[in-house]
Amino acid sequence: MPITYQSETRTFQLDTAHSSYIFRVYDGDYLFHEYWGRKLRPVDLIRLHATCASGFSPNWAGYTSTSQSLDLIPAEYPVYGGGDYRSPAMEAAFSDGSRLLDLKYVSHTILKQKPSLPGLPALDGGDATLELALADHPSGLTVIVSYTVYEECDVITRHAEIVNTTGEMVRVNRALSASVDLGSMDYDLIGLRGAYLRERQVERRPLRHGMQALESRRGASGHQMNPFLALAAPNADEETGEVYGAALIYSGSFIASAEVDCFNTTRLQIGLNPFDFSWKLEPGESFTTPEAVLTYSAEGLGRMSRNFHTVFRGHLGKVKGTRRPNPIVINNWEATYFDFDEEKLCSLIRSCKGLGIDTFVLDDGWFGKRDDDTTSLGDWFVHRGKLPNGLKPVIDCCRENGMSFGIWVEPEMVSEDSELYRTHPDWAIQKEGRPYCTGRQQLVLDLSRREVTDYLKETIGRLLAENDISYVKWDMNRNITDQYSSGLPADRQPELLHRYMLGLYDLLEDLTDRFPQVVFEGCSGGGGRFDAGMLYYMPQAWTSDDSDAIERLKIQAGTSLVYPPRCMTAHVSASPNHQVERVTPFKTRGLVAMSASFGYELNPLSLDEEERAAIAEQTAYYHRINDLVAGGDFYRLVCPFKQRPNGGGDDAAWMFVSPDKSRAFVMYAQRLAVPAGPPRRIRLQGLDPRVVYRIEELDGDFGGDELMYAGLTMPYFMADFDALCFTLIRKI
Ligand code: GLA
Repeated sequence: MPITYQSETRTFQLDTAHSSYIFRVYDGDYLFHEYWGRKLRPVDLIRLHATCASGFSPNWAGYTSTSQSLDLIPAEYPVYGGGDYRSPAMEAAFSDGSRLLDLKYVSHTILKQKPSLPGLPALDGGDATLELALADHPSGLTVIVSYTVYEECDVITRHAEIVNTTGEMVRVNRALSASVDLGSMDYDLIGLRGAYLRERQVERRPLRHGMQALESRRGASGHQMNPFLALAAPNADEETGEVYGAALIYSGSFIASAEVDCFNTTRLQIGLNPFDFSWKLEPGESFTTPEAVLTYSAEGLGRMSRNFHTVFRGHLGKVKGTRRPNPIVINNWEATYFDFDEEKLCSLIRSCKGLGIDTFVLDDGWFGKRDDDTTSLGDWFVHRGKLPNGLKPVIDCCRENGMSFGIWVEPEMVSEDSELYRTHPDWAIQKEGRPYCTGRQQLVLDLSRREVTDYLKETIGRLLAENDISYVKWDMNRNITDQYSSGLPADRQPELLHRYMLGLYDLLEDLTDRFPQVVFEGCSGGGGRFDAGMLYYMPQAWTSDDSDAIERLKIQAGTSLVYPPRCMTAHVSASPNHQVERVTPFKTRGLVAMSASFGYELNPLSLDEEERAAIAEQTAYYHRINDLVAGGDFYRLVCPFKQRPNGGGDDAAWMFVSPDKSRAFVMYAQRLAVPAGPPRRIRLQGLDPRVVYRIEELDGDFGGDELMYAGLTMPYFMADFDALCFTLIRKI
């Protein structure tokens, strides 16, 4: 049983294949966290508890032991209002203004079937779920803290539900998804920071005393920080060392933090950002937090990533399935920008014939009167100036040339110059009479309002129902400002950002349910909303508006810390690149993009015959390795964030291995050529040491043991930005 309860010691033990998570009900019915780490046999861990002189740490009245202060104990779901000064998981205010909480264990249930989270994306399945009912004394406010174990993935999910069983209104001011107290501060904090065009760069720093938090206050997870945090032992690398990882299945404002106290313990937390958040809970109502995904790895960051990848591939909404055929897409954005008409699109489509591309995606500019980014968002009807005969001739042209048709939309937005805004100015998030902000000259629609999501269900639904569309790129090109909803009363204004997310999830649930044949691709100015919440509905996302292969080495390696490579869309784009003007070989661009959901973002009409032939070769090769990218185990071999002594810095290598270890795809890319560069030997990972593999490109046979323990010497590259791949096949 992955979840056990020892009634003598009142201890709960949650076991995955390689880890244990243990807590117990202690004196006074308080929940103490005991342990999270390598798998343990059932054991009484009470002797782990620290006893130390804790002056200025409060005790419960009547207690004489100085060692059990609430400020010192490792808590399982800490609340504000007792003696714990560390960051709480929950804060609430009662109608008399009191904010004092005292949560105690009441009962628990172990379930076989995991209940879904109302209105929120979450993992499904799991081996067992534990629901702990806690109650505040004397108000009676109930908090249900839930855990689900995914044994084989070494993952435990957590969330909380606050049920107002008090008979009066309660205001929830903070409700995090998970909080874990670790007995040491001897960790590095690893986060994914970034910016537009430079998303998910790995940043690692040693923990220090006090609070260190990664967060978003933007109403979207954002380019700047990702809803993820890892704590890694200082010696942990890709293959060895302890790592704790936490990710949030949520696409709005979040916080992921580590707080180190004066006793050198660390409180790891993740959840909804309490900044500008509060939620009015009437009697009988309940509030559910998003779900946190926690994983422990004793085998470094690589194992942490594979744990996340496996659980997302196995249990996260549309990402599920071991081999999803991701279509090879060509997108016209960098080929034409806004400057196209029916003839131009059709000649572009015709030029794709025979190249092995599955889907043509028509990007921004096809609707309203949109000739640039100043107008028309919200007017989801065809731009007759550009496409006088509608979408049909373009779709027919795709079909005639052996491709499906996809389309770009940005439903959450409205341009001031649009019919929608002229009709419903109050549907935008802003406060009438106050100055307001635009971003890319557009406003955000108030998705906390039912009439707005109903309108979008109807208009986007009609677009998909009336046209033969198999792919939708769903963009979102600014973050929320002017946080005011004309649909909410004054005392519910701080609910807006979370209600926006619930509205968006409801809209996506409706559309993905009604149009199951459509593949949705998420996008937000590139990778500005790359999180497990969006991936639940949209199994892949445009990873960055920076389509340069060399920039993508870091962006894709960083993203892979948490998200499966098949969730990243990556396209071969023009050279010189449009974002950084870098000139990169076609082969390098292909190999980097093929390490993800593959496609093109260029004009085939501008290519020479050699490049066109290269496309046909790349698409044929991608069909051979598509199942590895979609369902294989991913290993980062050389991390592009690591500078190497002696030159040869920030090159990158990674590989995909089939689940049965019979095949692998290895990619190696060099950034800058190093004069008299030292030879580079790379040790592969994840192979079967007893097997002999044929490496096609080297026309030679190699033992799995040799490749993993001795390594493979890379050829000396004379040129910058060169790359190569190896295709490994087990010799029968
Ligand atoms: C965003 C996207 C791009 C493209 C443009 C269109 O920036 O990330 O890929 O779709 O919008 O306006």
